[in-house]
Amino acid sequence: MAILPIITAPDPLLKVKSKAVDRVDDGLRTLMDDMLETMYLAPGIGLSAIQVAVPKRVVVVDVAREDEPANPLYLVNPELVCVSDNLATYEEGCLSLPDHYADVERPAEIEVAFLDYHGKRQTLQAEGLLATCIQHEMDHLEGLLFVDHISALKRNMILRKLKKAKRLEATA
Ligand code: NI
Repeated sequence: MAILPIITAPDPLLKVKSKAVDRVDDGLRTLMDDMLETMYLAPGIGLSAIQVAVPKRVVVVDVAREDEPANPLYLVNPELVCVSDNLATYEEGCLSLPDHYADVERPAEIEVAFLDYHGKRQTLQAEGLLATCIQHEMDHLEGLLFVDHISALKRNMILRKLKKAKRLEATA
């Protein structure tokens, strides 16, 4: 397994719409293994392939708490089958927007269809943090970030700060 570099905003790749996966093969499983290891190290609870500069519709998630056993979830070509009318708000962060957080409102319950680690078709009902996390990661596949759900004022403030941080890094 390998640790992959995570790209951060305002990298234009984060706005790219990711392409559907044709086949879940060993190459894709290696990518998923590497993504999971990268996510655990970061640490984060979700990672989409585009965040490691691979524009494929692949997401890894693990919302288990530190005192719980690891519970990795691999979602290839995920699609929302249904979403609840009731909404839930979580303070979201993103490995591609380091050190920035904001409250985001999303459907509280979802049903998602996807191909698993072995290419088998699965559906999953999720609520709470898992539902939010899956929707956040699926947004990445459309080129969206959590800041696209908040006010333009707040979004621009966060993006400006990240741009500035990158400039400082480049000159350091
Ligand atoms: Ni994210």
